[in-house]
Amino acid sequence: MPQSPAPIVLATWSFAIQGAHNGWAALESGGSALEAVCTVAREAEADPTVDSVGFGGLPDATGRMSLDACVMLAPERCGSVCAVGHHLRVTDLARLVMERTPHVMLAGDGADSFADAMGMPRECLLSPQACCAWERWRAGESALHPKDQGVDSGALTPSLSSLIGERHVPHDTIGALAIDTHGVMAGACSTSGLPFKLAGRVGDSPIPGHGLYVDPEAGGAVATGNGELVMGVSGSFLAVECMRRGSTPAEAVREVLERIERRFQPLVDQQIAVIALSRDGRWSAGALRPGFAVTVADSAGIRAVAPDFVLRENGSQ
Ligand code: GLY
Repeated sequence: MPQSPAPIVLATWSFAIQGAHNGWAALESGGSALEAVCTVAREAEADPTVDSVGFGGLPDATGRMSLDACVMLAPERCGSVCAVGHHLRVTDLARLVMERTPHVMLAGDGADSFADAMGMPRECLLSPQACCAWERWRAGESALHPKDQGVDSGALTPSLSSLIGERHVPHDTIGALAIDTHGVMAGACSTSGLPFKLAGRVGDSPIPGHGLYVDPEAGGAVATGNGELVMGVSGSFLAVECMRRGSTPAEAVREVLERIERRFQPLVDQQIAVIALSRDGRWSAGALRPGFAVTVADSAGIRAVAPDFVLRENGSQ
């Protein structure tokens, strides 16, 4: 009988480290992979220092917050929400869409009404820091706009950030993949989307196959970075399909990044990173440019590490 893969939690960016601690603790106490990935995302959603997810995320051009999230166990088991304006726990909300409705995705007011019906509290999503950042951007004091991201957000502890060479830019979705002690795989992702985006813009994160895809017959993948680029190649679906056809996780990630590079010729400040996890527990992470870190929790410990490869090592155009 084939052995079950060892339990693991993987997540984008080092700001996932606290969530990974808690997600790993959940796995160790017999919790499901779904609970582990929701725990990782929930931590980031509540953290006001993370300016790309949940409370702390940067608003759209009109100063309104809108949050997106997705959870996935299999092609026939996924749920998502997008453009949520009044509820913070969007990953939990996406899970409720999966578990309590016949639908896959709820958007905007409908998603907020569903959250109300599920007893989730309405909350202010705009942190004071994010409001200040938006006011500076509106006054033209910040160079940050949808096609030009590249400021250091200060969301990382300096020691960890410099240790792994991570350069955080806002717009960094949290994406998590996990395998539990029963060998079940799950994924989740959560984001506030592109900072100062046009009102109504939705990116890759809440859309199965773009920001997140899981098929237990092949594996799972999550993407972070500029959603428009990921959406153009169905990034996470592409990675999983590569693994289904025999690619290693590293080959699958490379295929996604190379295709994005070929088709988009990304701007110097556009970053994409992908994590792929095969159904037998092998994994890899890669990034278009330097500055990405992946958080790992497994029997060897919990740490943030550099990805296996960076397509443009010198970060050039
Ligand atoms: N990757 C998140 C977004 O583009 O909205």
